[in-house]
Amino acid sequence: MSWAAARPGWRQLALFLALPPLLLLRTGGAAGPANPAAGLAPPRFNVSLDEAATQRWLPVLRHFDPGFLRTALNTVIEETVPSWVHEVLTPVAAEMDRFLPQPFEGEIRGMCDALGLSVGDGILINLAYEFSAFCTSIIAQDVSGNIYHGRNLDYAFGSFLKKLTIDVQYLKNGQIAYTGTTFVGYVGLWTGQSPQKFTISGDERDKGFWWENAVAALLRKNCPVSWLLRNTLEEAENFEAAVIKLAKTPIVADVYYIVGGVSPKEGVVITRNRQSPADIWPLDPTNGEWFRVETNYDHWKPVPQWDDRRTPAIKALNATGQGNINLDTLFKVLSVIPVLNNFTIYTTVMSAAKPDKYMTYIRN
Ligand SMILES: *[C@@H]1O[C@H](CO)[C@@H](O)[C@H](O)[C@H]1NC(C)=O
Ligand SMILES: *[C@@H]1O[C@H](CO)[C@@H](O)[C@H](O)[C@H]1NC(C)=O
Ligand SMILES: *[C@@H]1O[C@H](CO)[C@@H](O)[C@H](O)[C@H]1NC(C)=O
Repeated sequence: MSWAAARPGWRQLALFLALPPLLLLRTGGAAGPANPAAGLAPPRFNVSLDEAATQRWLPVLRHFDPGFLRTALNTVIEETVPSWVHEVLTPVAAEMDRFLPQPFEGEIRGMCDALGLSVGDGILINLAYEFSAFCTSIIAQDVSGNIYHGRNLDYAFGSFLKKLTIDVQYLKNGQIAYTGTTFVGYVGLWTGQSPQKFTISGDERDKGFWWENAVAALLRKNCPVSWLLRNTLEEAENFEAAVIKLAKTPIVADVYYIVGGVSPKEGVVITRNRQSPADIWPLDPTNGEWFRVETNYDHWKPVPQWDDRRTPAIKALNATGQGNINLDTLFKVLSVIPVLNNFTIYTTVMSAAKPDKYMTYIRN
């Protein structure tokens, strides 16, 4: 049995695959692929944090066909959101501005207005994406103390989401405040970099009853996990501050946060419960532990046999060796099957000390 087949709700998503291809008007800043065989770089956009939250995504939306985006977003909701969730959240949606944090509520509202969608549906779509991301994240330190961070993001309906994947440079006063990889319409981040400070990726840690727990936590004003990741990129001053914020802030679901810094030993896997950290697992290079691999299982427990992406990743890192690890070899590790699998949408490699090297590939 494949790991995907075991996930609840995935069969309903199959319909999604039948949607027509996105009409991408590639007029905006697409970076050229450094390695065409490995995949293509997604389009890269600037989003200005100096613009009002409701306005700042509109230039990005103009590069996509609105009819297609509407169909896509409505289909995700129909196929993934249980009807009781829709019923509970729709009346609340009218008062969302008092209930959800900024800038997320404003950004969602601005995009929904532009696309002719209800804000409640925009919020649901952002939560729907949140609940089924499967991933591999790796943090590693080379013999000179440089830190490298890579991730694969795996998701059920990739043929579709690959067309919505974008790299975003979030600008403040015309400077890049942080960079992230996301899907059009999705205001949280699962992958991002604060230049010269730290990098973060998130991997899902599903304990079941996702919607029940998430809606209850949201009503208690806990933060969606991808919103905390983006908030941390925006606000934390350094690696240590980022780790503390990611470890302690109440969130709507369990998750793994993987964080890399700019100095030796600055690498950690944080295993999160909704209210607090369950475990902190730092690099320990003085004892030969120069990398950490996190997929979607607690590192102190064995992985299920039907979804072992951990052992192949560790084997590939062992074979690479600390003397040879860099962003290129890390990318190769993330390209070993089944670390790379049929659900992998994109691979990102990054190193906060070399922010210009941030690179995402949409996988073939
Ligand atoms: C994005 O912003 C950066 C930093 O200000 C700038 O150098 C770059 O030219 C901008 N790119 C586009 C496509 O506007
Ligand atoms: C990787 O190397 C370490 C250290 O030599 C070893 O303990 C471990 O068993 C290796 N793991 C795999 C999966 O090859
Ligand atoms: C991916 O899909 C192809 C074609 O359906 C199949 O042959 C292959 O075994 C799959 N690979 C993995 C890693 O599941």
